[in-house]
Amino acid sequence: MSRFFDLVSKPAREMGGYSPNPPKQRAREFQPRLIRLDSNENPFGPSPRAIEAMRAALTTVHAYPDDDCIELRRKLATQHDLAPEQVLVTAGSTALLSLLCTTLLVPGLNAVTSERSFIVYSMAVHATGAQLIETPMRDDAFDLEAILGAIDGNTRLVFLANPDNPTGTMLDTNAVDKFLSRVPGHVVVVLDEAYYEFAKHLAASRKVAHPSSLEYVQRGASVVVLRTFSKVHGLAGLRVGYGLGPAELLTYCARMRNTFSVASVAQSAATAALDDRNYIDRVVASNTAQAEVLANGLSALGYRVVPTFANFLYCDVAEDAASFAERLLNEGVSVRPLRAWGAPNCIRVSIGTPEQNQFLLNAARKVAGRKSSVSVFRS
Ligand SMILES: Cc1ncc(COP(=O)(O)O)c(C=O)c1O
Repeated sequence: MSRFFDLVSKPAREMGGYSPNPPKQRAREFQPRLIRLDSNENPFGPSPRAIEAMRAALTTVHAYPDDDCIELRRKLATQHDLAPEQVLVTAGSTALLSLLCTTLLVPGLNAVTSERSFIVYSMAVHATGAQLIETPMRDDAFDLEAILGAIDGNTRLVFLANPDNPTGTMLDTNAVDKFLSRVPGHVVVVLDEAYYEFAKHLAASRKVAHPSSLEYVQRGASVVVLRTFSKVHGLAGLRVGYGLGPAELLTYCARMRNTFSVASVAQSAATAALDDRNYIDRVVASNTAQAEVLANGLSALGYRVVPTFANFLYCDVAEDAASFAERLLNEGVSVRPLRAWGAPNCIRVSIGTPEQNQFLLNAARKVAGRKSSVSVFRS
């Protein structure tokens, strides 16, 4: 075997080599003007207030950042009506997923989530040597009965992506309330709300009750709500996210994090982005309107589209999705085929600007039914 195979830890040996980036580097070589609808990024660029704040922060990057992100933490605490100790800022919400796993899991323990959910749950759990139990979905959504049934004495974490990525489905207030009332006390429930603002708006427009997850935290439930600056604020490249949860648990998590992990420029940008109400409202309103345009357009081509509560659509193209995505790539637009999620006929399409969405629909119209043989998505 190789030189280090016997030296590295068992989880390092056994973890797969999943890369979150689509093969865009290769795609860019032949498509320099590629439209990227593959990573659920904000198509409008960063919040202008965040850009201004980043410029101002550049002159102080010779100094280490504030390890506790005090200004941002206080602002988030005030905004959510919590104590600063109930807020933990991390380098993206994925960093907090890893911290929760290293804080609560060891080999022999487990976490529970649904199949076809956010791929980082699996990576974060397996890195600790613990087990991840994935229950089957029901109607493209989390089956909470199945999750309750999978919890045992060794379970420490449950991950609910709400809305789910990649299906875009959302659990409503009633479902989450009932679920939490039945979860045993030794389990921490992570409500991953990366798409919170989009979900809230889409739920209101469809008269669906969006869970008031903050109330769970305010009443001291064993719940950690995850939010991020990567989506509605357009700051994915900066890596800032946060958790809202029990102060004691977050203190343990904070001990496990890397020192100075949230860059000072990122802290400044995030703090400013919170005040950029005009930008947030514009992004959310466009997403709500365009979700419908894109869903109608794809449905008109004969594809099954799952109603979304996020900034992307889950779409069954009734053929090999990798091949379909490759044909779209050749037309200049990148979407995510979902074989790795166990959905070989499905793609996830991020909701772009109105122009990008029209481009995608035109490209989909062109490539529908046309097959190709070699796929860059398979390697
Ligand atoms: C469900 C879910 N949680 C978390 C994240 C990641 O957020 P961050 O960029 O803050 O690490 C994503 C990003 O795609 C997501 O889909």
